Amino acid sequence: MPRKLAAGNWKMNGVQASLGEIRTLAEAHAGSDVDILICPPATLVSLAAELEGNIQVGGQDCHANKNGAHTGDTSAAMLKDSGAGYVIVGHSERRTDHKETNQQVHDKALAAWSENLIAVVCIGETLEERENGETNQVLANQLAGSVPIGALAANTVVAYEPVWAIGTGKIPTFEEISQAHAFIRGFLASQHETSEAHGMSLLYGGSVKPSNAAEIFALNNVDGALVGGASLKAVDFSAIISALEASA
Ligand code: 13P
Repeated sequence: MPRKLAAGNWKMNGVQASLGEIRTLAEAHAGSDVDILICPPATLVSLAAELEGNIQVGGQDCHANKNGAHTGDTSAAMLKDSGAGYVIVGHSERRTDHKETNQQVHDKALAAWSENLIAVVCIGETLEERENGETNQVLANQLAGSVPIGALAANTVVAYEPVWAIGTGKIPTFEEISQAHAFIRGFLASQHETSEAHGMSLLYGGSVKPSNAAEIFALNNVDGALVGGASLKAVDFSAIISALEASA
């Protein structure tokens, strides 16, 4: 069975005063039977990792190289050294803002693995691609190009985030989420060791809120969520974590 994971992506939000949100989550979910992850900005990774409790910490991106002349970038080795256990790679905001290709995302995932970080590989179609009936093809291309061969349940999480659902308050129908997750599971099984593909956690992301979390978590092949805006406040993210705990 895949592990249940509630992951918060703070994006470019959060200063040291925000660490109190993580403390509150740790208190509210001590002894939780689901995995809880916060990916704060790089400036807070080491401070977040030093906090007491069971909240895991991840980066939001890493460079494919271990070190070198790459001004402004952070390597997987640096995230590991700061106490991270995970790193998000290929988020749509990076694919768009920084023109990241599937090959770059693939190389970042390999860098994450080499530091024993779990890579959270993000994929998802645009609204135009969905309306053109290209969703499965886009997901297949992104999975084939971004998830390195040899992916294991222990080192890879796949997050399905329809680009048009991110930060918009819109989500696909529950049927569409189910279909996308079933397609992703099947495609991963065709490319990787079947038992590993069936053990990988598949997250849904895009406008997950306390009000829709329980219905999303009830869907087949949805093992958790990657949450943006609603992960910034402990009260909201805690409600989402509770919905995942209740579904486990
Ligand atoms: P929102 O939850 O704010 O829609 O963001 C989703 C996301 O991009 C998480 O990585």
